[in-house]
Amino acid sequence: MFLNSRHLALVGFVVGTFSLSAAPAWKDAEGVLKAKCYECHNEKKTKGDVDLQQFAADPQIVKHFEVWLKVKDTIENGDMPPPKAHQMSDSEHAALLGWVNGELDHLAEAQSGDPGPVTMRRLTNAEFDYTIRDLTGHDYGLAKEFQTDGGGGEGFSNTGDVLFMSPAAIDKYFNAARKVADNATIMPGTGIQFHPQRVGLRGFEQVKAQAQQGLYVWYQQKAAPHLPKDDEPMREGDYMLACWKHKNQNVPLDQLAKDMKLSIHFLSNWWNLVNSTEPKSRFLDLTRVAWRELPADEKTATERIKGIEADLLSWNNPKHPGSGVQRQQQDADGIRPYNMQTSVRDKPQIHLCIGDTGDGNKGDIALVNYIEVSVGKEKLNYFHWLNKTLEEKSKQAAVNPPAPNLEALKVRIAELEKIRSVYGKHPQQGRQIEPHVIALAAPTVLDVPMPEGAHWLKIEAQLDMKNP
Ligand code: HEC
Repeated sequence: MFLNSRHLALVGFVVGTFSLSAAPAWKDAEGVLKAKCYECHNEKKTKGDVDLQQFAADPQIVKHFEVWLKVKDTIENGDMPPPKAHQMSDSEHAALLGWVNGELDHLAEAQSGDPGPVTMRRLTNAEFDYTIRDLTGHDYGLAKEFQTDGGGGEGFSNTGDVLFMSPAAIDKYFNAARKVADNATIMPGTGIQFHPQRVGLRGFEQVKAQAQQGLYVWYQQKAAPHLPKDDEPMREGDYMLACWKHKNQNVPLDQLAKDMKLSIHFLSNWWNLVNSTEPKSRFLDLTRVAWRELPADEKTATERIKGIEADLLSWNNPKHPGSGVQRQQQDADGIRPYNMQTSVRDKPQIHLCIGDTGDGNKGDIALVNYIEVSVGKEKLNYFHWLNKTLEEKSKQAAVNPPAPNLEALKVRIAELEKIRSVYGKHPQQGRQIEPHVIALAAPTVLDVPMPEGAHWLKIEAQLDMKNP
């Protein structure tokens, strides 16, 4: 028999109100039920899922106290019998209600007992994680940082006496709360929203980023009169040819601007950019390489320049402004989380190249949060696949007699172990990341072996914003 605390409280309340009246007998109460209730609450007709006739011989109040609680509620509220049915007389009503109350009182008294002082307790670690999950919709698994729950002598981990708080535990709670807050945004109209990952900029950092953005817009406006209009061709080829002439034929830039009808501002900008060695973006860096390799011979140079221009233009998608390579470049530079996908058909491995964003911050760190590989119709979580495959292959390599392809197996295992060892480690000392995340300090190239038959790859990466 199990009573939960809500029912105990209800029953307990009844004690105070009715303990004075002498309890009527079951015989009388049963007579009322028979006359006014069985009609709809019998073995065959169980309105409201209630069969009252089954209790004719024995009300079984202990076993079925929940039914009797309902009976008490419905008659007390005047819900039963329903308005259209024969109603109880006042004496019937008193007999039935009096009997139910009396019985429930006895039961409450029998069940009561002094539970002793109840210790205020903290949540168990599991309760904590479930609570955060219920509140935010995300499973952050924060309680793994907490002290482990002790077990009470009774064998329950939620016994108040063992769930005490130490000052260190309070600190950990604060940290956990901060982590949850780090994943939240408050947007106008949306209220507080929780995200699976830490939200990048906030507070002071955000203001600074906005200021920089504002400055950038100001520069753009100042530069606008000197820039080609939207519908004008950028004339990349002409600008580059002018630069080439300046370099190889010593023609002054302003002379060239005049002769070739180019903007002198833009031209001197080009000149500076192609010759500067300061890293900018890969987009520009690639153009610089082509520029440096231009020959001194005018005819070949002119032809090559046409090629470079065509190349530059092919990177833009005029139908979808902002969707071209330049935009992807910005994403890859860490301005936004960067999601990349590509075909990997027939590729046994791919190389993940992490470059600097070129913003002057040395040693940018990229977080690769998720890799997904499609094999046939299946989409594999690469991390899971890696763990599973390593386990399988290690088993195959350990059998006796040795597998015929043992050498190949060993090579594959070594390859997989190499990338497995990169997971869950942060290049900076003392920094922790989740086991399924790869953190890479730029510049670096990571070899990622592909599952057999893989044909499509998706990667979710972002700049590690915590990195100073
Ligand atoms: C004419 C038919 C009829 C009679 C007579 C009748 N009931 Fe009901 N009873 C119902 C119906 C229909 C429901 C379901 C109502 C609902 O779910 O809204 C119900 C539901 C109940 C419930 C369940 C309520 C709940 O909250 O789940 C109880 C207890 C109950 N009746 C007790 C009684 C008692 C005690 C009597 C006699 C005093 C009685 N009924 C007489 C038709 C009847």
